[in-house]
Amino acid sequence: MSSSSTKGPSLLEKRICAWHAALQSEYHSLCRIAIALYEPDSDTLSTYVYSNAGESPLTLYEAKLANVPSLQQIAETREPRVINDLSVLSHSPAQHTQSILGSGLRSSHTVPIFDDNGLFGFLFYNSTEQEFFSPAVLLKLRIYTDLISLVVLEEARPIRTLRAAVNTARSFAQHRDAETGKHLERMARYARLIARSIAGRHGLTDQYVELLFQLAPLHDVGKIAVPDRILLKTGRLTGDEFSIMKSHVPKGIEIVSMLMEEFSLEKLEYGQMLKNVVAYHHENFDGAGYPHGLSGSDIPIEARITRVADVFDALTSERPYKEAWTNDKAMQELKENRGGMFDPECVDALSESISAVEEIQQMFTQDFLG
Ligand code: C2E
Ligand code: SIN
Ligand code: SIN
Ligand code: FE
Ligand code: FE
Repeated sequence: MSSSSTKGPSLLEKRICAWHAALQSEYHSLCRIAIALYEPDSDTLSTYVYSNAGESPLTLYEAKLANVPSLQQIAETREPRVINDLSVLSHSPAQHTQSILGSGLRSSHTVPIFDDNGLFGFLFYNSTEQEFFSPAVLLKLRIYTDLISLVVLEEARPIRTLRAAVNTARSFAQHRDAETGKHLERMARYARLIARSIAGRHGLTDQYVELLFQLAPLHDVGKIAVPDRILLKTGRLTGDEFSIMKSHVPKGIEIVSMLMEEFSLEKLEYGQMLKNVVAYHHENFDGAGYPHGLSGSDIPIEARITRVADVFDALTSERPYKEAWTNDKAMQELKENRGGMFDPECVDALSESISAVEEIQQMFTQDFLG
């Protein structure tokens, strides 16, 4: 039986909350530590993990770095920044700035995090006191900043390794010609849209949403093992061919298990999420999917999300066996199968986000299929 990967705080959250508690015992007004991740392909910052006294003012949120000049400047200069009186930002129209001010935060210290590829994200410290971030406090925070940056970067490494290994395998198998990188970029973003939208009802954290975004593109890794004469067939599949096609699910589980073992990633905290996405992305909400015929909440939520994101992009994309459908027609198809093939909540979430969907499509336009 499937098990969910959404239970409880992650190890990263626990660590950051523990360090925050240690700091707060000395500095009571240091009420918030938060991390946002940067994604260069779309110039997007997404909230990731936070520790906050009380409600966090900012969750399940994303912004274009280009629209936050103050953070852009920190990224460019690579210099941390202190704002000792956040009310200087009160003229700013940015939603996140207003949320931060509205929740009583009065000063901030922001540090950019870099890895080999450039900007990785930002670490934010906030206080309810003006002029809190004195040189003495900054000195003290320095070691926490280094620790937090280290664990955040360390945690991202296995997922990157896994994705790099899969990309290499895909390019050998030439499978990338059938299902392009752009498909994966788009479906990952649809999955993130859906996850954010239903997060409240399912207790999904920012970190869960972000990891689903990173792992969902691996759902079809098992297609590597399907022969090209089937994968690239221009016509409809015969019954026998479709049976072979369906084996991409058990093959995918095998490949993921093997890779996790090979790279010593068995302890990867979100390994279960990855396995669930691979194993259950063809299960239908009504129980008529494959390979197990699970239904409803027996299907892990990450797989129900991935199902809708994957099919919507398959429908609106050109495939060797089909033309691209319009968004309207594809959305109609989702709605007709709402509660049948698809989790109704996931269908509603995507259909309510059509302008975000179009933005994603413009950013990651169709590859040429030769
Ligand atoms: P895929 O192309 O990534 O499609 C993923 C899923 O999107 C499909 O899972 C199906 O649920 C949905 N889908 C894609 N295209 C259509 C469509 O035109 N109409 C409808 N109603 N749904 C669509 P499914 O059916 O389990 O197929 C799994 C994989 O098998 C597909 O992945 C594709 O690689 C292959 N496949 C399926 N049907 C055909 C076919 O007629 N010809 C060829 N050459 N391959 C096929
Ligand atoms: C945060 O403070 O966690 C979000 C980053 C931002 O856009 O200011
Ligand atoms: C900003 O720089 O606009 C966000 C304020 C902060 O959390 O540092
Ligand atoms: Fe699949
Ligand atoms: Fe797919």
